[in-house]
Amino acid sequence: MFHLPALICLFSCACAAFAAESVIVPGYLWKDTSGNVIQAHGAGMLKVGSTYYWYGEDKSLDSTLFKAVSCYESTDLVNWARQNDALSPVANTMISTSNVVERPKVLYNKLNSEYVMWFHSDTGNYGAAMVGVATAKTPCGPYTYKTSWQPLGAESRDEGIFQDANQTSYLLYASDNNQNFKITRLDANYYNVTTNVQTLDGVTLEAPGIVKRNSVYWLIASHTSGWAANPNKYFSSTYLSGTWSAQNDLAPENTNTACRYFSQNAYDLPLGTNAIYMGDRWRVDVLGSSQYIWYPLSWASGVPQIVHADVWSVDLAAGTYTVATGTSYEAESGTRSGSATIASSSAFSGGEAVGYLGNGGSVTIKNVAGNGAGQWVSLYYANGDSTFRNTTVSVNGGAAVVVQQPNTGGGNVLLSVPVKLTLVNGATNSITVGAGQTNYAGDLDRIIVYTQG
Ligand SMILES: *[C@@H]1O[C@H](CO)[C@@H](O)[C@H](O)[C@H]1NC(C)=O
Ligand SMILES: *[C@@H]1O[C@H](CO)[C@@H](O)[C@H](O)[C@H]1NC(C)=O
Ligand SMILES: *[C@@H]1O[C@H](CO)[C@@H](O)[C@H](O)[C@H]1NC(C)=O
Repeated sequence: MFHLPALICLFSCACAAFAAESVIVPGYLWKDTSGNVIQAHGAGMLKVGSTYYWYGEDKSLDSTLFKAVSCYESTDLVNWARQNDALSPVANTMISTSNVVERPKVLYNKLNSEYVMWFHSDTGNYGAAMVGVATAKTPCGPYTYKTSWQPLGAESRDEGIFQDANQTSYLLYASDNNQNFKITRLDANYYNVTTNVQTLDGVTLEAPGIVKRNSVYWLIASHTSGWAANPNKYFSSTYLSGTWSAQNDLAPENTNTACRYFSQNAYDLPLGTNAIYMGDRWRVDVLGSSQYIWYPLSWASGVPQIVHADVWSVDLAAGTYTVATGTSYEAESGTRSGSATIASSSAFSGGEAVGYLGNGGSVTIKNVAGNGAGQWVSLYYANGDSTFRNTTVSVNGGAAVVVQQPNTGGGNVLLSVPVKLTLVNGATNSITVGAGQTNYAGDLDRIIVYTQG
């Protein structure tokens, strides 16, 4: 993944197409090792030996309806190779192309030497509120669909699965019209639920995952706001059936940071004594272009907190992560042209940003240091609309690339989005933002240039 689209390679750089990547860049339109956009939304992860399998919703039809549960394979969590589809539609069943299959999660059942997939199974209008199960003898299957039903006769919508160290596993799900959240034990085969071990009444949670750390269970989930992001929360308990703590924010309380990084939890993968937060940034009008937002989830403070990282890497053997540092350039220090103006707010770095970009306005940031290779550059911007904006970015007067700028939740609320640029070696690069477009771009606070590409 993280490969430049072929078109951009042709027009803006002489990069080697689809070379192996080494860093995780949240929010980029990730590509697989064949150069296709990764279609694995609502992720589930499974580690088998030293190989990771990523299951998810293939939304390449930009529809909520079922196309496939994809299966990708990687040994480094960065370069992913698509395998055969793990689950495909079956006509005249609850997994036909007119139904919904979401949030696939796979676990290995030692008793039967079998892989078991659980997913949210629903009708096109989300009225059935069921779980579905499918099984296979290999990680990517293809899986054989068993059935869909309401666990213990109650509604189940967003769900996750937690497998405890002793192999007893649990369905985590939003029930009772998304009002109550339930944790229900699976049978020894992982084919059915047996007993409800805990109900959190009235918590309105979605998108759940559990990480166990030092004998404490940490439940991570979002609230319900449709496809729009809301701040993810965590809860803790010493027993799944015990009393869970009150909710807390998974990312720092900062109204200037878009919805705690503007994504919804999908899966939380343990990494050493920490974890990796794996979320979706849903793009509702073009669902297949929804982005993957993965960040380190650190327990350094004793509780799980998302670590903001534009560019970062994992050392799987050591169980550690490294957040890249870059060089920051303020947009207000650039040269404005056309209608571009200075916008002031304490939310902006240096107290200022450049507004009215696009539609005749642009800004050129000069004397940017480059290393002569492809480099990640993060644009820190605010977009107070309720829909995506986008902006052109060009280097040294070259061809422009278009970067999507999701709505951030307010005109003074910042988000960063990545773009890979090829800068010349030395501190002589000019980066122009917002030129040659008829639509307004987001207000640009600053850019951070990373040495990694
Ligand atoms: C695993 O641990 C849970 C929680 O203590 C317990 O309820 C369950 O019976 C255990 N399962 C096995 C297979 O020992
Ligand atoms: C799950 O178990 C319940 C209770 O025994 C049973 O009524 C239901 O049919 C089972 N569902 C499946 C899918 O096996
Ligand atoms: C950029 O945004 C404008 C206005 O919303 C839209 O018309 C255009 O299609 C977008 N371009 C891209 C490449 O997303």
